[in-house]
Amino acid sequence: NFSAIKALSTEGIQQGHMTLHARTVAMAAGATPEIFDTVIDRLIESGEIKIWKAREIVEEVLGQSKAPVATASAEPEKAKRETLAAGYGKIILFGEHAVVYGRHALALPVPLAIEAKIEDANQGEGVEIIVPRWGIEQRLPKQPEKRQAFQKQFGLILESLGLDHEAMKIEIFPNVPRAMGLGGSAALAVALIRALDKHYDLKLADERVNELAFECEKVAHGTPSGIDNTMATFGKPLLFRKGSPGLQEFLELEQPLTFVIGMTGVESLTHKMVTRVRQQWERNTSLYERIFNEIDALTLQGVKAIRDNDLEHLGDLMNVCQGLLNALQVSSWEVEELVQIARDNGALGAKLTGAGGGGAVIALCPENAEEVKSAMMRAGYQAMEVVVGG
Ligand code: MEV
Repeated sequence: NFSAIKALSTEGIQQGHMTLHARTVAMAAGATPEIFDTVIDRLIESGEIKIWKAREIVEEVLGQSKAPVATASAEPEKAKRETLAAGYGKIILFGEHAVVYGRHALALPVPLAIEAKIEDANQGEGVEIIVPRWGIEQRLPKQPEKRQAFQKQFGLILESLGLDHEAMKIEIFPNVPRAMGLGGSAALAVALIRALDKHYDLKLADERVNELAFECEKVAHGTPSGIDNTMATFGKPLLFRKGSPGLQEFLELEQPLTFVIGMTGVESLTHKMVTRVRQQWERNTSLYERIFNEIDALTLQGVKAIRDNDLEHLGDLMNVCQGLLNALQVSSWEVEELVQIARDNGALGAKLTGAGGGGAVIALCPENAEEVKSAMMRAGYQAMEVVVGG
């Protein structure tokens, strides 16, 4: 990398390599993993992708915050925030997978969001997509069949809103870790829809935002329950059941709930995991239905435990839920290790969250979040503390 940097003059960087160049410059300026994303965002925003500028930003960021990984990287500057639109990340406390089969699930918002910004471009320039943190800088292919991954959702959104002939630059700031079971794909769709709404003054109701994000989720993983897009849209504690009549009950959390989120570092691929569970369900329908019923019961008991502020019981319910998720074969080595670390260090309960197979683990830690987080980090995982409600 360093010889590559030497070889590059900071002038004459070709268009299309800006984010890659910013990453290289940030690395050369000594941006550590904890502040890397923030440095890249600010570097690109400054328009001066030079080492001296990156060093200045590194010092500035280090001076501003000694906060841990996930909280430190998230905050775009105030002025920028006014032009940004957000989709929220989430954790599922109970009910993942079972919710696809009509059972209840309980989800909570996390203070992480994906943000998006739209700028006009010259006619004929098409749609440019920039995600500095992921090193992505590309044009949306005009032919739908050439679109890959999230380009498909972007295309769907633009067409549904009648904006597919507009020329624009879309900038995305993803503060929700990718493929970690924290609702990143739904949050991305909602952030883009809201940014378009803001920029083109479409006056979309939340319900329309949610509906469109649900369509995007179908493109992303086939048979979504709808919980992720609903959370990404509304960002409030939610008891959810799909179907007609479904249920969308927003809960007030009187007492704050403190969790540590441990990241396995292994991607959680919702489509793959949901398909795997479906195959098993087809082979062992009555067995799987019984497990889903048990998870449903845990979810409803979990709501009661939260209302009664009975955190010990809430933790026990989480532990049992993890056992049932393991029975569904959506756990993994890393998930089990993180769960064990959390319990050994005094978490009241710990389980995977989201589709599993990797992704993230949530640990309920009213007293000892710092201990649990440090233990996870010592074992080589990224971890962060989040407080929900209260
Ligand atoms: C993914 O966050 C939650 C799942 O239950 C899938 C869904 O509800 O669509 C695994």
